[in-house]
Amino acid sequence: MFTLDAPVVTDRLLLRAFRPGDLDDLHAVQSHPDVVRYLYHGVRTREEVRAKLGERTGMTRLADDHDTLLLAIEPAGSGRVVGDVMLHLASAAHRQGEIGYVLHPDAQGRGYAREAAAAVLDLAFGPVGLHRVFGRADGRNSRSIALLRRLGLRQEARLVENEFVKGEWTDEVVLAILAREWTARRS
Ligand SMILES: CC(C)(COP(=O)(O)OP(=O)(O)OC[C@H]1O[C@@H](n2cnc3c(N)ncnc32)[C@H](O)[C@@H]1OP(=O)(O)O)[C@@H](O)C(=O)NCCC(=O)NCCS
Repeated sequence: MFTLDAPVVTDRLLLRAFRPGDLDDLHAVQSHPDVVRYLYHGVRTREEVRAKLGERTGMTRLADDHDTLLLAIEPAGSGRVVGDVMLHLASAAHRQGEIGYVLHPDAQGRGYAREAAAAVLDLAFGPVGLHRVFGRADGRNSRSIALLRRLGLRQEARLVENEFVKGEWTDEVVLAILAREWTARRS
């Protein structure tokens, strides 16, 4: 089992558990049409975000299948949450995890998502002890797919029109990296 005991500090970011006071910042992210374009959900109202935030504050533990570690991304010294990065435990028995991330458009194009995701892969293949981490993206979500490739994930599949999202059939691209591949990249 893994529990987040303290924030993760990277060169430029603080990755920490969500808090009730993050409502305004999270609402700014989740109510932005560009952010949710390739996500399953649409833009969220303040009340919807408040309800989601209540769930998010407790997502600091990975023990059982479908537990999720969800970290707020805060540029150091800014006091502002600009997005989040998550690690979902897809299978404890098979030590498989899924990575995901979201950034407010103001915070994109600076390498923040890559920095946050790399720190989460360090956790995934370090203290969490996973064997494989995968990412899934809408086939049109070129920024997300490019990020996964930059992190060293290999494309394993393109599932053609496997989901019906927001009124249309969409492709899903699956990329993944193994613990030994991540270790080799980091050494
Ligand atoms: C997916 C997403 C997180 C990618 O964000 P991003 O900012 O493009 O990703 P990175 O953190 O890797 O940043 C890369 C960019 O920062 C630039 N950059 C600037 N300074 C940098 C630095 N110090 N280090 C690294 N990159 C830097 C890179 O050149 C690159 O720019 P480019 O895209 O113009 O080539 C973002 O598009 C997003 O939040 N989308 C909406 C939500 C979403 O779809 N999530 C994924 C669901 S599958």
